[in-house]
Amino acid sequence: MSKITLAAAFSLVLGFMAYAPVSYAADQTIADMHAEMAECESCHAGGEPSADGNHENGACIDCHGPMAEMVEPHPTHEDVVRCIDCHKVHDMNVGEMPNHENHADDPNCTDCHG
Ligand code: HEC
Ligand code: HEC
Ligand code: HEC
Ligand code: HEC
Repeated sequence: MSKITLAAAFSLVLGFMAYAPVSYAADQTIADMHAEMAECESCHAGGEPSADGNHENGACIDCHGPMAEMVEPHPTHEDVVRCIDCHKVHDMNVGEMPNHENHADDPNCTDCHG
């Protein structure tokens, strides 16, 4: 992604943060919600998914910052798992967080913690 495209993506995001206090439809996937504000390329290099997910995970951190600076359970998991191990952005809808009790099929704590 060129610097200019990246800057455009960020200004879109900043514009969104400034004007819209989260008004996306709850039946939209988290990936589609992100794509609406900043295109598929904001996570996928050239729009193409990587084989190992590392590029995509780096994109999460570029925008949201590291887990150490977020609310629990994030700091606990810094350096042990990736964002995309818990947040399945194409499978989970806006408002769905890991271990959300209404979505038993989504990743939850007990998948990893016996
Ligand atoms: C918020 C970041 C993000 C955005 C935006 C995003 N994706 Fe993804 N995508 C991922 C991640 C992470 C994966 C790896 C698999 C997973 O965790 O679901 C993935 C996987 C994929 C795959 C592989 C098949 C699959 O579902 O695992 C395809 C195809 C894909 N994305 C297409 C797209 C398209 C097309 C768009 C734009 C409409 C898009 N993605 C937007 C993060 C994103
Ligand atoms: C161990 C599983 C796990 C991992 C790994 C994880 N998250 Fe989360 N995340 C959660 C849970 C659970 C919540 C809901 C927390 C709450 O509402 O108290 C959440 C909430 C969020 C939220 C919405 C609430 C907020 O704090 O703004 C964002 C954004 C988010 N995570 C992004 C990320 C990013 C980016 C990463 C990687 C840097 C990441 N998460 C890694 C489990 C995880
Ligand atoms: C281009 C910047 C950008 C990228 C890349 C990005 N995010 Fe986000 N994300 C945002 C913004 C802006 C919001 C809406 C404001 C907020 O909740 O922080 C958001 C919202 C979220 C939410 C809350 C959704 C809800 O239900 O309210 C989660 C969870 C999340 N992102 C996880 C991720 C994960 C995981 C990745 C990487 C696969 C990722 N984000 C990549 C900018 C980004
Ligand atoms: C993708 C796998 C994965 C998921 C999902 C996950 N964790 Fe973890 N978690 C780990 C790993 C790996 C460690 C570090 C090694 C260890 O201590 O087990 C860890 C460590 C922890 C720790 C500190 C060590 C301990 O066992 O006391 C806590 C607390 C914790 N996780 C809570 C949670 C909670 C709450 C959730 C659900 C929101 C969650 N985890 C989801 C993988 C995961």
